[in-house]
Amino acid sequence: MQHTTHNSQLAAQAFQERFGYPPAIVVRAPGRVNLLGGHTDYNEGYVLPAAVDRAAWVAAAPVSEPVGRIVALDLGEEATFSLTPVPPPAGGWADYPRGVAWALAERGLELTGVEAALTSDVPVGAGLSSSAAVEVAFAWAWRTLSGFDLDRTELALACQQAENDYVGVRCGVMDQMAAVWGRAGHAILLDCRTLEVEPVRLPDGVAILVADTTVRRELASSEYNRRRRECEEAVRLLSRHLPSIRALRDVSPEEFARLQHHLPPPLRQRARHVIADNARVLEAVRALQAGDLERMGEAMRRCHRSLRDDYEVSSPELDLLAETAWNVPGCYGARLTGAGFGGCVVALVAETAVDDLAAALRRTYQARFRRRPTIYTCRAADGVT
Ligand code: GLA
Repeated sequence: MQHTTHNSQLAAQAFQERFGYPPAIVVRAPGRVNLLGGHTDYNEGYVLPAAVDRAAWVAAAPVSEPVGRIVALDLGEEATFSLTPVPPPAGGWADYPRGVAWALAERGLELTGVEAALTSDVPVGAGLSSSAAVEVAFAWAWRTLSGFDLDRTELALACQQAENDYVGVRCGVMDQMAAVWGRAGHAILLDCRTLEVEPVRLPDGVAILVADTTVRRELASSEYNRRRRECEEAVRLLSRHLPSIRALRDVSPEEFARLQHHLPPPLRQRARHVIADNARVLEAVRALQAGDLERMGEAMRRCHRSLRDDYEVSSPELDLLAETAWNVPGCYGARLTGAGFGGCVVALVAETAVDDLAAALRRTYQARFRRRPTIYTCRAADGVT
């Protein structure tokens, strides 16, 4: 991939220019798009993301001083911070590498000082997990340069901890797991309780199209945290009748049908979405394994409606893009992806229909909202390398 070589060289060149010697390593950590399983990860459920061929790139070398010295090429900024100990968060992009250093140190790992150059082509704030890509790239760089042995899942958990406890965003574990476990040509079925990962091959001839509304909502993080609390409260109320449950993951659709009247709105709607979506992910995996893209697409449409009506994390812009996609011949399905409120819609579409779909989305969106969506076609890519 030309793209890949180019970004790798860009990071290496920026390193050389800034520090005056060549980097020891260049790390690539991908963004991800989630095909199915919306807001199920923090309910200990199932998700079906794919790592994509857009990534954060870190060129790095060890230094003897206990510091991180990082240039962010795309921003033209530089940050230097101590590793003994790592200082508290300061806001801004450097919190991600700093948070990763902090989380690794919390695990008792001894980090070498590093000099590094970072560049990324994962769009920021679009729902493609640009932050997880940066975290995983730095964690991998430290792992390689410091020579400690941390398996991929442990590394993803450390990155999630950096985001939860250092940066202060209560995200689930999906994004970091997709960035470490991605596999070219495959989606990843992830069980967010056991952290088991199963690659699911995407049938030939299908493309992943991502349409970015370009709308960024401030409200996303407060509403995100509110949804998490609502789910926890639903578990608390349901556990009076199902004492063994720990998360919505443990409630079957049948149990929910029987007990839903114990939940007041909007908890009932929130729980209904999560419980149905968990079942949908498992069904969709069977469909994909059988090469049945129609059934996979139907699951994506149902997921979108459920996120719109029951989980209430959609927006008029996301709805228009998803609904437009549903009506384009050759598009199997589409839904909002990521946390919602703004950001992106993901569609699965026959490779031969990509141009028609992109044109229809641009036309309809521009006519209604007087702005252009940004459209990417992605390939499912390998995890961090
Ligand atoms: C964000 C979070 C993920 C996940 C999704 C919703 O992307 O980072 O952990 O909860 O929202 O599915």
